[in-house]
Amino acid sequence: MVKIVGITQARIGSSRLPKKVLLKIKDKTLLEYHLERIKQSQFVNNWIVATTNEAESDAICDIATKVNLQFYKGSLDDVLDRFYQAVKDENADYVVRVTSDCPLIDATLIDETVQFCISNKLDYFSNVFEDKYPDGLDVEVFSFKKLEEAWENAILKADREHVTPYIRRKVDLSQYSNDLIDEKYSKIRITVDEVLDFNVIEHLIETLGANQSWEIYADYILNNPKIKEINGSIIRNQGYMKSKFEEIKLRNITNFVASDEYRKTIHQLIPGGCHTYSKGDDQFPILSPAAIVKGKGAYVWDVDDNQFLDCSMGLTSVSLGHAYDSVVEAVKSELNNGVNFQRPSHLEKEIAEKFLDLVPGHDMIKFSKNGSIVTTAAVKLARAHTGRKLVAFPGDHPFYSYDDWFIGKTACNKGVPDEISELSVTFKGCSIQSLKELFEKYPDQIACVISEPEKNQCANCTCENTNEEYLKQAIELCHANGALFIADEMVTGFKTEFPGTITKYGITPDMATWGKGIANGFSFCALTGKKEIMELGGITREGEEKVFLISTTHGGETHGLSAAIATIDVFKNNNVIEHNHALGKKLIDLCSQLIQENNLNDYINIMPSVWMPVFVFKDQNKQACQGFRTLFLQEMIRRGILFQGVFVPCFSHTEEDIYYFAKAFSESIKVYQQALKEGYEGLLKGSPAKAVFRKLL
Ligand SMILES: Cc1ncc(COP(=O)(O)O)c(C=O)c1O
Repeated sequence: MVKIVGITQARIGSSRLPKKVLLKIKDKTLLEYHLERIKQSQFVNNWIVATTNEAESDAICDIATKVNLQFYKGSLDDVLDRFYQAVKDENADYVVRVTSDCPLIDATLIDETVQFCISNKLDYFSNVFEDKYPDGLDVEVFSFKKLEEAWENAILKADREHVTPYIRRKVDLSQYSNDLIDEKYSKIRITVDEVLDFNVIEHLIETLGANQSWEIYADYILNNPKIKEINGSIIRNQGYMKSKFEEIKLRNITNFVASDEYRKTIHQLIPGGCHTYSKGDDQFPILSPAAIVKGKGAYVWDVDDNQFLDCSMGLTSVSLGHAYDSVVEAVKSELNNGVNFQRPSHLEKEIAEKFLDLVPGHDMIKFSKNGSIVTTAAVKLARAHTGRKLVAFPGDHPFYSYDDWFIGKTACNKGVPDEISELSVTFKGCSIQSLKELFEKYPDQIACVISEPEKNQCANCTCENTNEEYLKQAIELCHANGALFIADEMVTGFKTEFPGTITKYGITPDMATWGKGIANGFSFCALTGKKEIMELGGITREGEEKVFLISTTHGGETHGLSAAIATIDVFKNNNVIEHNHALGKKLIDLCSQLIQENNLNDYINIMPSVWMPVFVFKDQNKQACQGFRTLFLQEMIRRGILFQGVFVPCFSHTEEDIYYFAKAFSESIKVYQQALKEGYEGLLKGSPAKAVFRKLL
């Protein structure tokens, strides 16, 4: 029989609410409520109360004895050791960890967690993943073997103080996602860290008694906003974040000598100083790297050999990490076979089959080196298919192509004749009403709508339609009006889902365009679509008019193809999306906590999409401001984070990186607060960054 021993941690001292477990409600201590509830577990063979070796902890031991439980007294700070010592002679196969500041913890939930862990033969499982339960119900289950390994090897202060971080880092958490419960509960607190928490628990026990299931308490709180408000602003897991911050030593990067040299001459050689305007000097503070020498995993090194945690990951194209081993190996071995031939490489067939396998409803594919080529090709096909001239897209989306049909509609339309710009028409993103009005205005003239299927703003969407409704209705509306719908998955592909938003919402656009993350930064993009449209670009329909679709010398270079094949394999064989989303969520949670703690809710906002959190920085008047934004970038860059206001989680980022980011964020906040008092001008070196699409330089 599997032996399961439960340990509950209890201590007298607590900086925020001393002696909290001894506080009483209706003549009973919180600890007694907690112990009585955990004892109802069907699976845990015995419970041990692990307390500290301070004299005052005798009160805890007395309560344990009163309810017939064992206790163990051990180290105050090395909780991992206390924990291990408490259980080491028990011959436990599995250990359950709960904390005694959770008086309304639920035995059913404990048993479900234990059962899941054991029946799936996991080394670790917890119900805290994805924060789907209220705070106050946390249960962790792990093998005794893993506990022993952590006890022997963990050296970081936070690992010793919080028992399980070391174990969590050593197991593959991506396979454990548990999506049974709605996230609506995640902001509720039925734990006791502060007196306001105690007030909530007191109200719950006095109103509902102490023997209800967790859902009864949680629903009660949800249905009574006044109760929820009492402790709603208290921060979750603050203690762990603070002890991580104590451990992390931030870099202090001040040497940009080689970067300054680079900046001096590059604009004489290359118009714009580089090959993507959003990588340009006018997009960054002056105290920043001008050029990168190398990257590995989640890190890059600049021309001064400064090391940075990367956030934008090659304008979102590096989905696995820089120089990701299996991709590099695949590319290297293909390079030895030559890269370009008079006839296509045989790899074209392999990647065509592999990619199309991922995209339901699409039968044919064309590759290219850049995203703009495939979006422009999609537009051309739509015009050829419908015989119409106009192209429609949401005017509030930032980018679809560097070609004239799109750039002509932006502020920097110099060089694009009006006659071309007039062939593009715009509507309000995500608004079906606005799209309807556009079709009414241009009846039988619109060839296609091209739209990104999801924006980061969609995470807290206030539009009249949900994103899913918008996509489904937009496709219907296009078809009803004889137009095609093109989903531009350039940014969303391999990020919102695998392969993208179209599978997330189960939609079948007529065509889809892909790029960025699909070959881990290598130059490989794709247009996929339905046969009847795509084959217009073919050469087999004898006697019909030919559409000159994509035809470039380098479009089928073999190393790009092999990078795509290797990248898809990594996505297929690992839970890359879950890993990336979990880190995106962690980053949002930590930064939101810091923003809240520092009363900056009106000045720093996060678009909370887990696949790509975007930050908005505002001035004293609560208006988005490039000066304040650039100051924040400067402060993050100084601390070793190549930050441009966006975080694109990739498979090489780790939880440690997220804590590093959060610590740099918390330090940068201090400078930001100073700027809110005295203006950013005295704190920012050089000029604020500028918009990419602007009329004047
Ligand atoms: C949504 C979207 N579509 C198309 C493109 C064009 O891709 P590329 O820069 O590879 O030409 C971009 C580039 O940023 C994009 O964000």
